[in-house]
Amino acid sequence: MLAPRLAGAQAAQQSLKCTCRAAYTTRAALARPGPISLTSSPLPRFDAPSARPTPRSFARSYSARTTPTDPIVVEGKTYPRDAFSNVTPTILSKLPRRLHLSPSHPIGILRTLIESHFASFKHLNSLSPIVTVQQNFDDLGFPADHPGRALTDSYYLNQTHMLRTHTSAHEVESFRSGLEQFLLTADVYRRDEIDRSHYPVFHQMEGCSVFDPSTGAIERLEKENAEMRAALKAANIVIEDETGEETATNPYQAEHDPRVARMIAEHLKNNLNGLVLKLFGGRASQGGEPLRVRWIEATFPWTAPSYEVEVMFNGKWLEILGCGVVRQTALERSGVGHKQGWAFGLGLERIAMVLFSIPDIRLFWSEDARFLSQFREGEISTFKPYSKYPECYKDITFWVPTKEEGVKEWHENDFMELVRDEGGDLVESVQLIDEFTHPKTGRKSRCYRLNYRSMDRSLSNEEVNRIQDRVIERVTGEMGVEVR
Ligand code: PHE
Repeated sequence: MLAPRLAGAQAAQQSLKCTCRAAYTTRAALARPGPISLTSSPLPRFDAPSARPTPRSFARSYSARTTPTDPIVVEGKTYPRDAFSNVTPTILSKLPRRLHLSPSHPIGILRTLIESHFASFKHLNSLSPIVTVQQNFDDLGFPADHPGRALTDSYYLNQTHMLRTHTSAHEVESFRSGLEQFLLTADVYRRDEIDRSHYPVFHQMEGCSVFDPSTGAIERLEKENAEMRAALKAANIVIEDETGEETATNPYQAEHDPRVARMIAEHLKNNLNGLVLKLFGGRASQGGEPLRVRWIEATFPWTAPSYEVEVMFNGKWLEILGCGVVRQTALERSGVGHKQGWAFGLGLERIAMVLFSIPDIRLFWSEDARFLSQFREGEISTFKPYSKYPECYKDITFWVPTKEEGVKEWHENDFMELVRDEGGDLVESVQLIDEFTHPKTGRKSRCYRLNYRSMDRSLSNEEVNRIQDRVIERVTGEMGVEVR
């Protein structure tokens, strides 16, 4: 074992801090860069020859896998496949789960709790996860070269349609339909590494509040701000706000009267500080100490100024949401350029992991009664691990392909996806444990450790070997690597 394993929520929290699930800030973005039908047969698989493929046979097999002509059928709709199509049957099988709609599931319990904080807002919970690239990126002003758009980071049905990567994908259409205050909860999808705090499907809540300033809304805002300010002052909370008022790096929008912009930003902050207090204040782990919250400058293409919020929990800062004052360009695109307001997006898994002490993100997807029966509607309770089954790890070492013609460029997320596709939730984590470049040939070698562990039962060595063999077979056949 390379890294010491930490128990329970402590482990969850440690790894959570270093993840950037609210990944669309410029800060974070810079750091990262078949018909598949639920009812019909899955993508045909390439059967690797027993010998290592030559570049030519690899190129053939690769194109056989990536350019099937049959369309993708999901939720009764048909999407013609093209070079962008990269969703897998494993991912599509998650669509019907709708964990956030389950009232006694931690994700559903948390949703309801947050909804009660925004009781007067319209609550939307059943929008389809399939959106257009326009909705997910273009409408929000994402630049053409934003890393989030990459095939290695997002799931595409084809060039025009994808699985939403964040709930902000629905902002513009919601504004366009005339909604002014809404809270939208949904499953979102991103390609990523495999460990106890990353899963390709997770849940976000988007909260938006916009208003027409000519309708007396400014006075309402002012009044609400005064009330929330007084309530926060009386509460056991310390708010560290280094973003203060307008700054050179996080300016108000030129279109805005600074007095109104300040008021909107304060309204956003007051609402969210209140929410954080509701979720984390008074938890036993604070031991009577005041809750600490901090506000940090951020950058999102459709908000200005923009912020991120972190909460101190069990001695660690936990990043929980991104937010900001909605850019007028986004409101204009929605046909409501006369309105102004704010938006936030928060990730539910991170918060649920610490509040319910859930040590592994895969548990949310468990259908085991020993997990599901522990939770009650409306209650935040501490998860009691029912058992920890033994871990079994297998290493795989290979030469990464060089940029040969016909061979797709190597990307770690493609490897992660392949492992998920074969091992599903039996894979606890995939860690890069060794890497070197051959001094003469310049070829790169990588060694990954695949940790297998079921949440619900013991795995046999044979079962793990079968999965590992399939991984080796496919990684050789489909990714052009040479296993050492
Ligand atoms: N959608 C953003 C993310 O997932 C969060 C966000 C929502 C930021 C709304 C600003 C406004 O990173």
